[in-house]
Amino acid sequence: MNSFKKYIAFEGIDASGKSTQAQMFCDFLKKTNHNVFCTKEPGGTGISKKIRRILLEDRLNPKARFFLFLADRAIHIETLKSYLKRGYVVSDRCLFSTIAYQSFGEGLELRFIEESNLFATQGLLPDVTFIIDIDLDTMRKRLTKRDVIESKGDEFFKRVIEGYNYIADRFDNVFKIDGRQPAEQVFEDIIGIWNTI
Ligand SMILES: Nc1ncnc2c1ncn2[C@@H]1O[C@H](COP(=O)(O)OP(=O)(O)O)[C@@H](O)[C@H]1O
Ligand SMILES: [Mg+2]
Repeated sequence: MNSFKKYIAFEGIDASGKSTQAQMFCDFLKKTNHNVFCTKEPGGTGISKKIRRILLEDRLNPKARFFLFLADRAIHIETLKSYLKRGYVVSDRCLFSTIAYQSFGEGLELRFIEESNLFATQGLLPDVTFIIDIDLDTMRKRLTKRDVIESKGDEFFKRVIEGYNYIADRFDNVFKIDGRQPAEQVFEDIIGIWNTI
């Protein structure tokens, strides 16, 4: 089952429940004894953790942020590729975040963002992506700490949500899940889709 669906990504705006669902999905795959590598972007491995710290702590202009995300991705993809030879990769965020946040959110040119991301990933895209979809009220209620990204206004996040809708239309095997439901129900919806693809 799903032997050709090896690279699974979780996407969505801040506090949508990506990390919660990615963790649940990892546990689910591990129960069936697969080799599972659970990771996240930015900051999956090694030097990426340093990049993540800069991204979260420093106020950078959108282009500088973008190139740091890309540097992180170019490093991360090497690790992903080696794990994909042996088993599953579950990633909390992927290149789609950069399309949603840096292009739709911050206004960087879409075609360039898409092409340079594929350049960084050597053309690799997730096999399956779950976009956890919540509204802004839900996001604000759930946010406890505010970092540089999360402190952006509602207009920014509306554009990011629009970006995720674009991604769901434009790319294959991208599924939107209603993230306003209790976490267990969100997970059931994800598994429901997983079992049919
Ligand atoms: N379905 C849900 N319903 C209510 N709260 C949730 C749900 N999923 C996650 N949370 C809570 O919302 C916050 C953000 O969840 P998290 O998984 O960290 O989101 P993300 O990784 O997308 O930022 C956490 O406090 C988490 O416990
Ligand atoms: Mg998270």
